[in-house]
Amino acid sequence: MIKPESIEQLKSAIDIADVIGNYVELRRTGASLVGRCPFHEERTGSFSVSPSRGFYHCFGCGAAGDVIKFVQEIERIGFNEAAQKLADWYNIALEYESGEAPKRRDPRPLEVLKRFFINELWQNGDILGYLQKRGISRSSIERFEIGLALSGAAQIDMFSREKIPLTLAAEAGVAAVDERGRYYARFTNRVMFPIYNPQGQIAGFGGRTIADHAAKYINSPQSSFFDKSRLLFALNFAKEAIAKQRRAIVCEGYMDAVMLHQAGFQNAVATLGTALTETHLPLLKKLGEPSITLSYDSDQAGQEAAFKAAKLLCARGFGGAVALIEGAKDPAEMLEAGGSEKLATCYQNAVPFARFVVAKIARRAENRDAAFAQMRQFLDTLPPFAREEASASAAAHLGCDPSRFRIRASAPSAALFGAKSDRAELTLIKTLALNRTLYENTVDYLNAALFAAHADLFAAIGDEERLFALLSDESIKTLSPDEAKDAIGKLLTFFYKKELKRLRAEGRAEAIKEVHQMIDRLKNGGLMPFKRF
Ligand code: CTP
Ligand code: MN
Repeated sequence: MIKPESIEQLKSAIDIADVIGNYVELRRTGASLVGRCPFHEERTGSFSVSPSRGFYHCFGCGAAGDVIKFVQEIERIGFNEAAQKLADWYNIALEYESGEAPKRRDPRPLEVLKRFFINELWQNGDILGYLQKRGISRSSIERFEIGLALSGAAQIDMFSREKIPLTLAAEAGVAAVDERGRYYARFTNRVMFPIYNPQGQIAGFGGRTIADHAAKYINSPQSSFFDKSRLLFALNFAKEAIAKQRRAIVCEGYMDAVMLHQAGFQNAVATLGTALTETHLPLLKKLGEPSITLSYDSDQAGQEAAFKAAKLLCARGFGGAVALIEGAKDPAEMLEAGGSEKLATCYQNAVPFARFVVAKIARRAENRDAAFAQMRQFLDTLPPFAREEASASAAAHLGCDPSRFRIRASAPSAALFGAKSDRAELTLIKTLALNRTLYENTVDYLNAALFAAHADLFAAIGDEERLFALLSDESIKTLSPDEAKDAIGKLLTFFYKKELKRLRAEGRAEAIKEVHQMIDRLKNGGLMPFKRF
């Protein structure tokens, strides 16, 4: 058990907005910050964080709590674990009630191992030669603290010599226990790249085989302090350049990142063998929302990854472009061949995200209709300013009228159907418009007066032109006939309840009695023709 005073101290020492900012993009509005709630799907920002109160609250789904609760919920972990995680991040010691030792992350095993690996490398002419052949300079080896893991036994011995308990090494992810209960080293026969967190502390390693091992790269195991989805290789070196240039290069490999820095691209970072995902974005956002150049491998997998990353970045409001490496498999290979200027040109000619995505959709789709639908779907994910430009690009691709495309494309119902837009009404109207029989069977129950928000659209049923936006909005689903009848029942109930108020005010006892009976029948699932009183 962590002492309550210790918890209070922890909470007061850390800024809740700083923690939540790692997960959610927050905008300041007065004393609090707002963003999109991470606990439910939403397009608007109902999620609010109050740094002075140390509290978050979502007006949409009701999620609320303090900083520890937030970490518990988002990481799906227990209270103690969440508190410990926060303490680790901020280097704060927690005090525990009983003898149970607090599990603090100890950086020593990683530090000594890093130095050991460096030492091994500088004594190994073969591997130095290999790195040199790959174009990595001695000063890059030094700067990036590249090392060499050879024998595992030597690493285990080293830990004993340095008086570092193997349990600690295991916790740090550099040793593990075999079936016979003996410790072994995780990394052997690999060139080692230390990986730092944004705070500049070593978090783990990535290692490339020098023995043609089936796993070309392995990384430290996933843990609270080595979380691949929240780390970027070389970010510790690139931070300042990214903030200054407002531009970042994101590549796939450690080798790429090292070679890029060596060639003067100081704003390069690499993901850790994972796709670029939502969780990486706060790292970049914090550096001033830089424009991103995606510099992925030229193979199919690399281009597919670029497609996904471009869609994500666009949707999250990042600007940037996808670079197409020609004549080499990746940026490292291009630089190895001496093409730093060629690469710079390639970055200058990079294709802006939206254009890249739209072009790829156009190339792939089976036919024009499919391309149209997929483009529209993509455009629907974009913030308004990005959508405008992307619509033009999409329309140009399909050779259709851009304005027309733009109307089709801008789908979120609030924007298109007015601030008062009502999804239930829209859903029902769309269903009726698409199902003639259902419409004819229910028309007696219906009246424009039932549609408080969209009476005009109801009246337009049958007029495809006027219903165009609604019919082409894929986010608005249609109902089965039974569901539609339920929906009509609900609208009628709602309508008659409002009528009751009016009738009471007018003191019309007869009518009130009749309306009550109607509401009761509606409650039991019955429908009756619409009637005004
Ligand atoms: N990767 C990985 N596991 C693998 C292969 C790759 O985690 N089995 C990750 C590594 O982070 C690697 C990146 O994906 O840096 C890119 O992979 P790849 O292009 O295959 O590696 P290169 O960096 O090109 O390595 P090299 O040039 O040394 O072959
Ligand atoms: Mn590569």
